[in-house]
Amino acid sequence: MNIHYDTLKEEYLDAITNLDKLCFSIPWSKNLFASELASRFAHYVLALDGESVIGYCGIQSVAGEGSITNIAVHPAYRNQGIASTLLEQIIDYARAQKLDFVTLEVRESNINAINLYTKYGFELVGSRKGYYADNHETALLMTLQL
Ligand SMILES: CC(C)(COP(=O)(O)OP(=O)(O)OC[C@H]1O[C@@H](n2cnc3c(N)ncnc32)[C@H](O)[C@@H]1OP(=O)(O)O)[C@@H](O)C(=O)NCCC(=O)NCCS
Repeated sequence: MNIHYDTLKEEYLDAITNLDKLCFSIPWSKNLFASELASRFAHYVLALDGESVIGYCGIQSVAGEGSITNIAVHPAYRNQGIASTLLEQIIDYARAQKLDFVTLEVRESNINAINLYTKYGFELVGSRKGYYADNHETALLMTLQL
């Protein structure tokens, strides 16, 4: 394994789209990732094993507020600290941008992700019932004050 990290680039768009299909019930389209790449409000960090994209985390920031769009790691690479490294890089970026806080939504059943966010200091601040279109699951809102 040769894990390294890079920011999102045009050449990674197909691979990140394929990774998203593996990791989410409602994956993002390539067009959506392309619009994130073009947006000056968005920043994405990718984990790569050689040439393969095996993880990513993204943030959108506007007016001092950051919002984590997503974090995902390829199933074969989980529980090795890769999401932790991605999230640390996004939090470092948020601090460098002098954001006041970072917020996110997570499915209430997604214990692994909730544990990950809690490990990095995110706190539960609220919930949105029926937020997810596929199974009407509740979203938990979590915030990290910077
Ligand atoms: C959530 C996800 C990104 C974690 O990726 P990962 O690289 O395996 O995470 P790490 O190895 O860095 O683990 C970091 C922390 O996450 C939590 N965690 C990860 N896997 C876990 C598991 N199987 N059980 C319990 N907690 C878990 C723990 O707090 C862990 O810290 P610890 O090892 O000190 O206990 C990964 O499981 C994933 O891609 N899931 C599908 C996509 C998804 O649900 N994303 C979140 C959307 S909100």
